[in-house]
Amino acid sequence: MTANEVLRAVGESPDLGNVAQSWEESQAVYPGGAEPLVDANWRIWREICSFGDEIDAPLARTAQAIRENEALSRLFWHLYWRVYLSPTPQGPSGWPELRGCLGDDGGVFYLLAALGVVPLLYANYARLGFPEAAARHTCQQVRCYCDDAYRHGHGGLPGVYEGPLGWLRNYTQKRYVRLGRLEYWLDPTPQNYTVFRHRQSGRVVALAAPGLRFDAAGYLHSDPAQYREGEGWTTTFAMDEVSASGYLLDPRGMGLNRHVTLAFADWECVLRKGDPVLQMHIPSGGSMTPDACRESLREARDFFRRYCPEEPVRAVTCASWIFSNLLEQILPESANLNCFLRELYLEPRPACGSDGLWFVFLQRGMIDPAKAPRDTSVQRAILRLLESGGRWRHGGMFYLLDDLDRYGEHVYRRDWSPDMPELRG
Ligand SMILES: CC(C)(COP(=O)(O)OP(=O)(O)OC[C@H]1O[C@@H](n2cnc3c(N)ncnc32)[C@H](O)[C@@H]1OP(=O)(O)O)[C@@H](O)C(=O)NCCC(=O)NCCS
Repeated sequence: MTANEVLRAVGESPDLGNVAQSWEESQAVYPGGAEPLVDANWRIWREICSFGDEIDAPLARTAQAIRENEALSRLFWHLYWRVYLSPTPQGPSGWPELRGCLGDDGGVFYLLAALGVVPLLYANYARLGFPEAAARHTCQQVRCYCDDAYRHGHGGLPGVYEGPLGWLRNYTQKRYVRLGRLEYWLDPTPQNYTVFRHRQSGRVVALAAPGLRFDAAGYLHSDPAQYREGEGWTTTFAMDEVSASGYLLDPRGMGLNRHVTLAFADWECVLRKGDPVLQMHIPSGGSMTPDACRESLREARDFFRRYCPEEPVRAVTCASWIFSNLLEQILPESANLNCFLRELYLEPRPACGSDGLWFVFLQRGMIDPAKAPRDTSVQRAILRLLESGGRWRHGGMFYLLDDLDRYGEHVYRRDWSPDMPELRG
């Protein structure tokens, strides 16, 4: 069967999303079923993910429906193969909700595929020498996808969205683990900014990557039309044996039109492109209290120093809607997210206006305030910003693990100024 024959057979239109991608490859190794469709398998895996037994009936019903329908079974195998087995990452996008053939269980088709992460994650952890308890804790992500996202968008029905499924591959291949409230994976940093610490005062500054076009306010746009002619500046960066020079990034999350030269006699380079860092991911679930964030960062530092000592990590980095410094304007000072932001060195990222807002509204593309849900204070605050003509942007952050013992002291932004004595030439 071709991809379009399968789509038609399950009551969907042909050429949907990226369903047809690598179809022949997956079908060439179609084994006539798939591990997650075996009742004895998903039953163990859903327990590990902390689902209650109320989920058993929809899982059993859906697994049986897939097993008994060749088109569905081939589509399921294609999904499973694409997410976990294909040589390159090929997450699903624009796949059908399958309401025609599975009714309210459409999302359970994807939940079964998500549960398939469990044995592959355990195998990855065994290879890495990571402890079993960490594997079990990390598997909670599947329940987050269901309970914190899909159920919200589907009147309480179980399932997962197809979009985030591609992410699960990371847990099966990378040094990726949930520790306390947050998740981390060890990788070289792809970011191109460079970070320096003053040898006497300990003050930290970051210099922007070269070739970035900032607008007058110090922000970056992915759409060139967002820049006004003649405004802003474009960054340069240079480093030799004795010094580095470039444009300052303000730890509050914007670029500054201020070119500085840092002599290595006074400044040590503590983070540059390619250094091993912990890239952070923020699973859903709220309650990102200052204690929860600090404890998770400490656990991460200790875990990776113990299990990956050959790659000493110096920093945690991340980009997300959560690191938009706009949150400091629109949420109360005491909001958990704002407490977190004040501890971090924020940095601007090229923004398109809807960056990361799927995680807040569960809607793709530009958010239309007339159609977006207003159920939570975070949703309402972002909608008020959009309604008053504001433009949304996301952001990035880093945190140097050497500063963890001073978490809570706003180490990067306290008394930070482009005119601080350490930067005076
Ligand atoms: C980021 C997140 C953990 C924030 O946690 P937090 O600020 O500690 O959350 P709290 O528990 O204090 O809740 C604050 C408010 O945010 C709301 N909220 C929590 N998660 C939310 C979400 N995913 N979408 C919209 N609102 C959310 C809460 O309902 C609460 O609203 P209320 O004041 O009306 O009761 C939370 O937004 C979340 O779970 N996000 C989904 C995951 C995510 O976005 N990851 C980043 C991917 S790049």
